[in-house]
Amino acid sequence: MLKGKKIILGITGSIAAYKAVVLTRLLIKSGCEVRVVMTPSAAKFISPLTLSTLSKNKVACAIVEADSWTNHIEYGLWADLFLIAPASANTLAKMAHGLCDNMLMAVYLSVRCPVLISPAMDEDMWKHPATQKNIEILKSFHHHILPVEHGELASGLIGPGRMAEPDDIIHFIENFFYSQKKLQGIKALVGLGPTVEPIDAVRVITNRSSGKMGIALVNALINLGAEVTVVSGPVSEVVSMGASILRVQTAQDMYEAMMHEFPKNKLIIMAAAVSDYTVEKPSAAKIKKKTDSLTLNLIKTKDILRAMGLAKTDHQVLVGFALETDNEEANAIDKLKKKNADYIILNSLQDAGAGFSTDTNKVTIYSKKHKPFILPLQSKSELSAKIIEYLIAHENL
Ligand code: CTP
Repeated sequence: MLKGKKIILGITGSIAAYKAVVLTRLLIKSGCEVRVVMTPSAAKFISPLTLSTLSKNKVACAIVEADSWTNHIEYGLWADLFLIAPASANTLAKMAHGLCDNMLMAVYLSVRCPVLISPAMDEDMWKHPATQKNIEILKSFHHHILPVEHGELASGLIGPGRMAEPDDIIHFIENFFYSQKKLQGIKALVGLGPTVEPIDAVRVITNRSSGKMGIALVNALINLGAEVTVVSGPVSEVVSMGASILRVQTAQDMYEAMMHEFPKNKLIIMAAAVSDYTVEKPSAAKIKKKTDSLTLNLIKTKDILRAMGLAKTDHQVLVGFALETDNEEANAIDKLKKKNADYIILNSLQDAGAGFSTDTNKVTIYSKKHKPFILPLQSKSELSAKIIEYLIAHENL
């Protein structure tokens, strides 16, 4: 299943580096092409010669060696997966903060492929808030972190911190490449973020949408191999690498971009917080503070989800969101019908940890064909992966 996959194996300074020898052998046995990159301290634990012999490739330990240099950019473009095993606390910290003082870090900062990390360290180092914070940062970069194992550590203590076993890492990689294919060939369109409606030359009407849920859905789709187009209102979060992005400002811009892209896509997810009203006559100049009160005449914007619902074919799957503060279920079902969506994902602002700007969410998926499906409070990235799995299980995607 891994035949032909190009893997960079990054090895850092940890006693668990010996497991990287077995890992290299297993990757080669599975048909992978392997290039090993080691930090200088990793080379004190195991010999580069052992790894170059097993991987059948030169091992990169330094950017510059004698009179030549190793092209870390070329490594980054070559790989299907960058696996760092074992990843020491030091390397995790450097990765979280973008330090670049060795070949492994230069490769890490250059790769465009997914990154899989298998940490290894003593229990206290693992549990330290600094390490845990770094792990959270690395998760926010959408890297995959393998759990550490519980057992006897190099210090003699018993606890969590051991590197995952090579066999388990191989299973993870097999599942990872398998699941990457589930949506291969499927085109998906995601609308996300807020819209911005001008009042005058300097003022706008907008909302608190961070775009986080939409971006998490885009990542989940890309992870499964979908070809994703994003129509995004202004968001400060980084929209996933690998998607093609159309940036818009107003509800009208978003309508035009979504309607233009919509016919080309099989799966359409409308996660944007579209302004329901826009200023009828925005002023080209800044409005001066001349009167005690000011009335803005607002007119309704186009309902993009509804327009897509009316135009969709039987082959398309249309998913909308509903953000409610009360009568949640009735409103969600009402939106499902009125907008002719296949699915409405309900977020309730009544639920702690759910809704705008948070990193977590709790949702219920409504559809015409199936019973409501509740997904409990969890990170937006975990939730998005489950929403997409749900859609795959219920639709011919
Ligand atoms: N939506 C849309 N175009 C609009 C307004 C909303 O496409 N002009 C979409 C949203 O992206 C979401 C769904 O419709 O997928 C429901 O949005 P929501 O704000 O919950 O509901 P509204 O339709 O705006 O209705 P209300 O504000 O009355 O709840």
